Amino acid sequence: MAPSPRDASPALQDRMNDVVEGVNKTIARLLPESDLAEAPLYEAMRYGTLNGGKRLRPFLVMESAALFGVDAMRARRTAAAVEFVHCYSLIHDDLPAMDDAQLRRGKPATHVAFDQATAILAGDALLALAFEVLTDSDTHEDPRVRCELVTMLAHAAGPQGLCGGQMLDIIGEKADFDLGTISRMQRMKTGKLISFACEAGAVLGKAGDPQRRALVNYANDLGLAFQVTDDILDVEGSAAETGKDSGKDGKAGKSTFVSTMGKDPARARAEMLVAQAKAHLNIFQGRADTLKEMADYVLQRRA
Ligand code: IPE
Ligand code: IPE
Ligand code: MG
Ligand code: MG
Ligand code: MG
Repeated sequence: MAPSPRDASPALQDRMNDVVEGVNKTIARLLPESDLAEAPLYEAMRYGTLNGGKRLRPFLVMESAALFGVDAMRARRTAAAVEFVHCYSLIHDDLPAMDDAQLRRGKPATHVAFDQATAILAGDALLALAFEVLTDSDTHEDPRVRCELVTMLAHAAGPQGLCGGQMLDIIGEKADFDLGTISRMQRMKTGKLISFACEAGAVLGKAGDPQRRALVNYANDLGLAFQVTDDILDVEGSAAETGKDSGKDGKAGKSTFVSTMGKDPARARAEMLVAQAKAHLNIFQGRADTLKEMADYVLQRRA
């Protein structure tokens, strides 16, 4: 099911649909069905990745790569790799030991559709597959570029990134974090992967330092704004809109911008971050306007 990018302009909507279509084909090709005895693992990996999703991170890879003339077929492999890591993180995030969520992308979460052991293994296997995809010469002809992407993705996914952020998220259910710690947590659990997606385009295209830095700065602000809006949607969105259980953060006692400063100030903070994110792209003199539009969409989204 293609996501409905509500409130996106027709041009952005077309571009998002293109990315969804392209990356879904790449993912399906990288994850063939299996008739081996361990087939349920492959089925769960397909289920957890080909179940909708906005494909924001693939979009960021494709758009940032396009700025430097990177071949779209090749960029799609990096886009699939980052989406594998994202989908792994969602499968594990929904487990009873973590957020204990039943609904993901409008369908039963992977551990509900299969079982917990299969969901854990599917997540582990997707994480491993992401790195296998990046190291293949089809991803980039230059081994130094592939190696750099691997290091960057490992950093984004590991203790200084997603896993560290998820640890803080769990600790924050019992502890009362201040805004600085919440912001650090959000940058780690969500921001680092979004940063990877934007920087990857520059690495694939061997971009110069100023362009690369501009994309990273854009991504840092966008990533935090994205998680703040996710936290707002948890409070005010319905499961029909978001495709996820709603109101879970409050029930679990999570430390978020919304729990700490309230919904309206949190929205104001997200707006400020998006304005900042867009300003970093001025260096591209209009060629990165789709990325600017995406930043606006992050504020308006209902899913
Ligand atoms: C949800 O991410 C988890 C967060 C990091 C907030 P998305 O909102 O990008 O989820 P999908 O991929 O569209 O389902
Ligand atoms: C998840 O944050 C971030 C991840 C790294 C998976 P949330 O727990 O808020 O994501 P949702 O709301 O379940 O998608
Ligand atoms: Mg969570
Ligand atoms: Mg969750
Ligand atoms: Mg959430």
